[in-house]
Amino acid sequence: MSAPIAASSGAPFAKLLSVASFVPSRVVDNAEMCTWIDSSDEWIQQRTGIVERRWVGEGESVETMALDAGRRAVEKAGIEASELGAVIVSTVTYYHQTPSLAARLAHRLGTLGAAFDISAACAGFCYGLAQAEALVRSGAARYVLVIGVEELSRFTNIHDRGTAFLFADGAGAAVVGPSETNGIGPVVWGSDGSQADAINQTVEWSKALAGSETPYIQMDGRAVFKWASGFIADAAKDVLAKAGLAPEDLDVFIPHQANNRITDAMLRALKLPEHVVVARTIKQFGNNSAASVPMAMDALLTSGEAKSGQTALLIGFGAGLVYAGQVVTLP
Ligand code: UT7
Repeated sequence: MSAPIAASSGAPFAKLLSVASFVPSRVVDNAEMCTWIDSSDEWIQQRTGIVERRWVGEGESVETMALDAGRRAVEKAGIEASELGAVIVSTVTYYHQTPSLAARLAHRLGTLGAAFDISAACAGFCYGLAQAEALVRSGAARYVLVIGVEELSRFTNIHDRGTAFLFADGAGAAVVGPSETNGIGPVVWGSDGSQADAINQTVEWSKALAGSETPYIQMDGRAVFKWASGFIADAAKDVLAKAGLAPEDLDVFIPHQANNRITDAMLRALKLPEHVVVARTIKQFGNNSAASVPMAMDALLTSGEAKSGQTALLIGFGAGLVYAGQVVTLP
């Protein structure tokens, strides 16, 4: 008989120890946006809730934003960066296919822990959180840094009236660590690759490299809207059920900031009571893809609208199409 292989063993539970974000310096309001597309401030506000969005300014990039948010998340967690057993970065807008942004950041933060990037678009932070929770509980890592970061402005066609007014930049980061009580509920996640064309890159890299066209992110807004306000609203109900909670048990709802009308459809499906605080940071940040959920979480905690220890439902959804959500205790 072959010798038994030792199994890893980790913490009984995992929880969020901190969250931090980086809000880029350049404010692009709807008036400036309408110098590039045939639209109006009124239309953009009514159809999305966006008043202004943040784009990278001088000296800011996907790497500087992620480093800043990541460093502050580690500080807030009260640990040393060297204790991070893994760094997970979710982004679809980093400029290098390889090596990963996570490996560069791990080095700059000061850890030799495992490091890898994931591509799960606007669901990326919730995908990373699911992995972090599993790593901590399995014993593969004691502390995990999860970063969602995007520089969508670089891949946005400012003359495309179907996407230009939506996409924005930013970074959000959180540290996940061991806990004696549960702080991260079961993930509900999945994909629908039959809708791969609903949000995608206009030209593949090989053609872009040949110099023929600049790749942008394009979207069939109506198709995504329909999926998000129907199927994803139901998935949000599943997240709550899998966590063993009722709508009354929630304090905060933090959906991906894609469109306030999608958030409204989810609220109708979830039948959340009045006391639940709902993230609507799309108003001043725009849609920051993988960064939107942690940016919104940090903004609500910083403003005092949400409080540490409260119970929050998170859900992300986007290109793939992919989605993921879980209930968490706020750090
Ligand atoms: O983060 C990843 C996930 N992404 C999302 O969840 C985005 C989901 N989709 C959306 O949020 C919405 O589809 C958009 C905000 C992108 C568009 O809103 P919509 O209500 O779906 O607009 P539509 O494409 O159905 O167009 C409605 C009308 C049309 O005019 P008619 O045919 O009714 O006369 C469009 O021509 O609005 C017109 N329109 C615009 N008007 C002013 C389309 N784009 C614009 C524009 N400005 N930028």
